Amino acid sequence: MAPESIFLEDFGQTVDLTRRIREVLLNYPEGTTVLKELVQNADDAGATTVSLCLDRRTHRGDSLLTNSLAQWQGPALLAYNNAVFTEDDFVSISKIGGSAKHGQASKTGRFGVGFNSVYHLTDLPSFVSGKYVVLFDPQGAYLPRVSAANPGKRIDFTGSSALSFYRDQFSPYCAFGCDMQSPFSGTLFRFPLRNADQAVRSKLSRQAYSPEDISSMFVQLFEEGVLALLFLKSVLCIEMYLWDVGESEPKKIHSCSVSSVSDDTVWHRQALVRLSKHLNTTAEMDAFQLDFVSERISGDEAKRQTERFYVVQTMAAASSRIGSFATTASKDYDIHLLPWASIAACISENLSN
Ligand SMILES: Nc1ncnc2c1ncn2[C@@H]1O[C@H](COP(=O)(O)OP(=O)(O)OP(=O)(O)O)[C@@H](O)[C@H]1O
Ligand SMILES: [Mg+2]
Repeated sequence: MAPESIFLEDFGQTVDLTRRIREVLLNYPEGTTVLKELVQNADDAGATTVSLCLDRRTHRGDSLLTNSLAQWQGPALLAYNNAVFTEDDFVSISKIGGSAKHGQASKTGRFGVGFNSVYHLTDLPSFVSGKYVVLFDPQGAYLPRVSAANPGKRIDFTGSSALSFYRDQFSPYCAFGCDMQSPFSGTLFRFPLRNADQAVRSKLSRQAYSPEDISSMFVQLFEEGVLALLFLKSVLCIEMYLWDVGESEPKKIHSCSVSSVSDDTVWHRQALVRLSKHLNTTAEMDAFQLDFVSERISGDEAKRQTERFYVVQTMAAASSRIGSFATTASKDYDIHLLPWASIAACISENLSN
């Protein structure tokens, strides 16, 4: 035995993950904030479509990775977007704090924390992106072979026969084009809702969520509507679905999208990304018009509403007071800010038909 192994005792500082998550939840309000964090991440990833779905079904639990996962086969919030995780994204989502977007001022995400607001809803968030399915279990309570030091799993479902061995585990992800056989060219999160029994035992949150709570979050997000899309760079459309028990596919209930999308609209919405590459000696100003259409669908009927907004956005000059403040913050404190402002005014009367 090497002499040092006699007196070297493991004694590093660690962070209690469940306590850290409880702190995050205190700083992020419940309600539509959680949905908006998901939309913001999809926008940063360059997605153009976000679909949120209340899956009311309870899935079978006969062939799971382990029996203790059966209790998470119930109603869930599904969140789909059409951008795929890069390897850096996988690393970054597995850390709390220290976002990989830190040095990229044009990304809205800053702190590497927002995703964790999903722990308001669930103790066991998971997602499929590309060829992987990832499951997080911060309490180390449900997944096989997890510990405080290693509280999650990633599985390459294309390289293994995951679906054939653990059909019931993976079939809930078969939605929005994901078949759990070939790599998925998008990202699908599944957040099984924390029920009252689980809330009593949870070290993350004592709050239970029912499908009705998610339904009312959808209504609230729909009512906030256009505001959730107005200042985004890529996402053009947010849709909300309901997947009822016994149905073979989800039903669309609400949608809100940028209408008559042209190269021009895309170019204006990407102004922040373009102008952030190097600050100019003079201020850059941009103005454009953006049309939205919102739909509330019930049965065969759809109520449509259109709105027109005028958006003015500007990047201050490098030499301006606010420009030099941003440069100093970046050089001296490694905080990457942009002297950017964007405002919008609704210039249409609200016309429904
Ligand atoms: N298509 C995608 N959809 C959703 N999330 C994605 C997608 N692609 C990558 N991600 C990752 O999700 C993670 C989101 O993390 P989180 O919201 O916690 O941090 P952030 O957006 O960097 O910062 P902030 O706390 O300011 O939101 C990021 O690491 C991002 O890389
Ligand atoms: Mg984020």
